[in-house]
Amino acid sequence: MKDKYFTLANNIKIPAVGFGTWQISNSDVVDACLIALNSGYRHIDTALAYNNEKGVSEAIKKSGLKREEIFITTKLPAQYKGYNECLKYFNESLKNLDTNYIDLYLIHAPWPWSDVGKDYTKENIETWKCMIDLYKQGKIKAIGVSNFQKKDIEALIDATGFIPHVNQIRYFIGNTQEEIYNYCQEKNILIEAYSPLATGNLLNDPIISKIAQKYNTLNANICLSYCYLKHTLPLPKSTHKERIVNNINFFVNISLDDIKILDQVHNKELDRPLRS
Ligand code: A2P
Repeated sequence: MKDKYFTLANNIKIPAVGFGTWQISNSDVVDACLIALNSGYRHIDTALAYNNEKGVSEAIKKSGLKREEIFITTKLPAQYKGYNECLKYFNESLKNLDTNYIDLYLIHAPWPWSDVGKDYTKENIETWKCMIDLYKQGKIKAIGVSNFQKKDIEALIDATGFIPHVNQIRYFIGNTQEEIYNYCQEKNILIEAYSPLATGNLLNDPIISKIAQKYNTLNANICLSYCYLKHTLPLPKSTHKERIVNNINFFVNISLDDIKILDQVHNKELDRPLRS
């Protein structure tokens, strides 16, 4: 998968697999990212709220790669909304990452995590205006959202006319969020799949295991290939070398019939609250 890309609506190329760093501490992220970069990943997904941007930056320096060879995504924390807050925390991320631009900057969620479901439309629109300005100034190559539903994105487009390039959502076999999935496809908004292994909970699923056996591969590879074959960009997370290496070499050409079987997997994970 190392040479595979998606092309965003503004023609920016984004490496088709991102290394997910949610729940990796700032100290552990240095080694994990370094292994990822040495294994061929060129796309790292972090967030100010993960408290590991400095570690990501350290790994990039240690790798010897040039800044422009790596696609960095980071996110404005869900609780900071509005034009000035966006500016302030965007600059903090630039400082932590020791860079003068971000490849992809996302609004982490439509509401603060302490206020899930509450209407922050007005505040999100002000935040979005700031992100558009930063994008126009060249400080961000692409802008988007995360955990947004159709109505949340529609409000941004109605107010500004600017369609997000990306929506990063919790997406995996059994949690395919049809409404927002179809809406993003229709608007040419790339869906990034966070927790593509359902934070590990799909790795013992009996239906997935059966299909993995058929293709003589790992359950993880079926999960990641499913995301990719559905045109979503998976962001697998691991702190183990063999898994990090595996997760960028995952591709299995799952037949349409088997995809249909996987489409029917019911996942109890659906009932868990969102969090990235
Ligand atoms: P670890 O970090 O200990 O390697 P998700 O990407 O959906 O958030 O899932 C991450 C979870 O899945 C982590 O607990 C990670 O464990 C585990 N994991 C990641 N890749 C693999 C793999 N290839 N095989 C088995 N477990 C994996």
